[in-house]
Amino acid sequence: MIKNILITGAKGQLGSELGRLYAQYPEFNFIPTDIDELDLTDKTAVSAFVSDNQIDCIVNCAAYTAVDRAEDEIEWCYKINRDAVRNLAEVACEKAVIIHISTDYVFDGKATTPYKETDQTHPQSVYGKSKREGEEILQLVCPQSIIIRTAWLYSAFGNNFVKTMLRLAKERPELNVVYDQKGTPTYAADLAQAILSMIVFTEKTNRWYPGVYHYSNEGQTSWFHFTEKILQFAEINGCQVNPITTGQYPTKAARPVYSVLDKTKIKKTFQLIVPEWEDSLKKCILKLS
Ligand SMILES: NC(=O)c1ccc[n+]([C@@H]2O[C@H](COP(=O)([O-])OP(=O)(O)OC[C@H]3O[C@@H](n4cnc5c(N)ncnc54)[C@H](OP(=O)(O)O)[C@@H]3O)[C@@H](O)[C@H]2O)c1
Repeated sequence: MIKNILITGAKGQLGSELGRLYAQYPEFNFIPTDIDELDLTDKTAVSAFVSDNQIDCIVNCAAYTAVDRAEDEIEWCYKINRDAVRNLAEVACEKAVIIHISTDYVFDGKATTPYKETDQTHPQSVYGKSKREGEEILQLVCPQSIIIRTAWLYSAFGNNFVKTMLRLAKERPELNVVYDQKGTPTYAADLAQAILSMIVFTEKTNRWYPGVYHYSNEGQTSWFHFTEKILQFAEINGCQVNPITTGQYPTKAARPVYSVLDKTKIKKTFQLIVPEWEDSLKKCILKLS
């Protein structure tokens, strides 16, 4: 039976959205932490925390997520995305179940149909490689863990693409945005709700469902079209959005040109209904305005 749930990275986008839902789940005792309270790279501290608080379940939202900066801060990126995951797995596996969050950047983007959990990974960036190694270590040390790969995460909290575009659109007459990268935005509030529904489902069915799962909102789009919708829903009319190619917008880290995720497995296993990305974007914009 799950009672005490440790949320790591609680001040990040996903962690903050989980925090908004705690009151709806009085059957659980949520213990939110971020790097100030519990640095996951400190294995001794993690071990003591898990024991002292009798943790039954860990939702690991902590990560190094600065994709371009990671190309320079390689060691620090691996410390958080790989070594900290190993720490969690090694100290907690016998005491708690682990739900770990990963990324679409474990794929190279050469696919033309939505990625399934069984598809070959081939990360192209330091961030993607570090996240993939975190997955591998978790599966090796604690094979009963759940790994949820998500994509293009945004929320009303923290820094993300939606908030950046809203700010820039108010400052500039036009924006050039890449149109040849396809994926699906994910409202972190939806993912947070999905994670808690999954935990409730496991409690109800008295079973745990280990493995890798894909979760994003429904549908697909490009960064260009995503930006058009952000401005439309925010009713910002004074800024023109121009489509450009990836080649016209060089970044330090390579991104997958296609990273749409197939969500069949997570929907079927946990009986989840996944909102369309445009509907969720509207909700987030409403919250921001
Ligand atoms: N953002 C995206 O577009 C995206 C896309 C796909 C997958 N994901 C994955 O989704 C998950 C959640 O992402 P997010 O956007 O919510 O991330 P986020 O906003 O960057 O939050 C991550 C949190 O983890 C904290 N953290 C960093 N190092 C830590 C450590 N050593 N110990 C404890 N906490 C630490 C960060 O603190 P500081 O801010 O102080 O560093 C931050 O509060 C991550 O696993 C990420 O890889 C994200």
